[in-house]
Amino acid sequence: MGKKLWGGRFGKQTDPLVEEFTKSIQYDQKLATYDLIGSRLHVEILRKSGYLSSAEAQALLSGLAYIDEKIETGSFAPGGEEDIHTYIQNELQKKVGDLALKLQTARSRNDQVTFATKLYAKASIKAMLFFIAELEKSITELAEENVDIIIPGFTHMQHAQPVRLKDYLWAYVEMLERDYTRLDFISKNMRITLGAGALAGTPINASEYNVSASKVLKHHRVFAEALNVSATSNSLDSVSDRDFVIEIISALSMAAMHLSRMAEDLIIWSTEEFDFVEIDEAFCTGSSLMPQKKNADSLELVRGYTGRLYGNLVSVLTMMKGLPLTYNRDMQLDKEPLFSSFEIVSSELRVLQGLVKTLKFNREKIQEHLEDESLYATDLVYYLVDKKVAFKQAHTIVGRLVKCSLDRSIPIKAMPEELLKSFSDKIVKKEIVKLFDPLTSVESKRSVKR
Ligand code: ARG
Repeated sequence: MGKKLWGGRFGKQTDPLVEEFTKSIQYDQKLATYDLIGSRLHVEILRKSGYLSSAEAQALLSGLAYIDEKIETGSFAPGGEEDIHTYIQNELQKKVGDLALKLQTARSRNDQVTFATKLYAKASIKAMLFFIAELEKSITELAEENVDIIIPGFTHMQHAQPVRLKDYLWAYVEMLERDYTRLDFISKNMRITLGAGALAGTPINASEYNVSASKVLKHHRVFAEALNVSATSNSLDSVSDRDFVIEIISALSMAAMHLSRMAEDLIIWSTEEFDFVEIDEAFCTGSSLMPQKKNADSLELVRGYTGRLYGNLVSVLTMMKGLPLTYNRDMQLDKEPLFSSFEIVSSELRVLQGLVKTLKFNREKIQEHLEDESLYATDLVYYLVDKKVAFKQAHTIVGRLVKCSLDRSIPIKAMPEELLKSFSDKIVKKEIVKLFDPLTSVESKRSVKR
């Protein structure tokens, strides 16, 4: 284990098992770049408030820039340190000597870890919004390419009424839009603060914390323009708040749920039985035993990973439940669920984006499914309603007609006029045969705002 950020009051070495058990560097190294941003801001704050001379601040900033460079170029190898904050501190000391020890003035990892996690979250949401928009674009293009296709719509997985394929696909765009808005809101609502110290605040004036992030982040790829940092309004809450983590995992869980539904629709549609759509081979895998198999494994994993997301959400909610104020080490366990949720959903969005682009709809097969007369039963009810039959009565009449057709295995369209009239004298054969048509059916629906 490398040098710790504490230890003065300890007479003994930490038990190696405890070192191993308590460290978080193996995952929180993902926060490195964000912790460095916090450190740069902190140097600026210490300089303004007189804890550092300009020369000292300059030396620390160039030390931090050197570490940043190492991270950017990948020559960054945290070893046995307790966490990323300790690693950066130790690296800085190697670079600038004991001056590095001043960086910890009036700050605590409790505040640092919240700050860095929030920045990680903001940057990851930004990337996620891009991937969501890309998938929306692919789905929209697919809908436009197949704009004239009508498919059977389902409720309870049973044939219900014909619907336009583009509307079906657009239903997923609507869901993705809600995911987009939710994540965007969470990001905007997240307040980035400093100055909580360990829990009680610091001796530095609140006004000094209103640092202009643009000064230290001029060249930062994510935060160059917009990062508002201010002093905490409640230091106790700042170090013990993980609402943002829960909100994000919750929004990502919902996004994963949407993607799993889309995956499931595509899995069903690609079966031999449905055969609505062909999934490109590049997105499928085979079987080691059955040579004919082409399985939609990537979609199955999109469906399956949803469990991980829900698990991550429940794990953080449970970890936070009943925690006394303020920071407790339990809270270190928010990172892996958060990171994993972001990583899973962004991979899913990217895989689906590629997969969607390659989908080929099977028009003939869809047409065969559309021959099912039951899809038009509701249109027959509306036909009778237009002839002044009460809806409930019309519903019963058409129900009987469908039953008769099934019992006698005669399509309604093929029934003789007298048989049709025995259900209702309002039925005129040459009028109703026209209703068994997908386009007529979808065009008769006018309630949806376009
Ligand atoms: N690695 C810790 C975390 O992720 C940093 C904070 C440690 N603070 C402390 N007082 N031990 O939460």
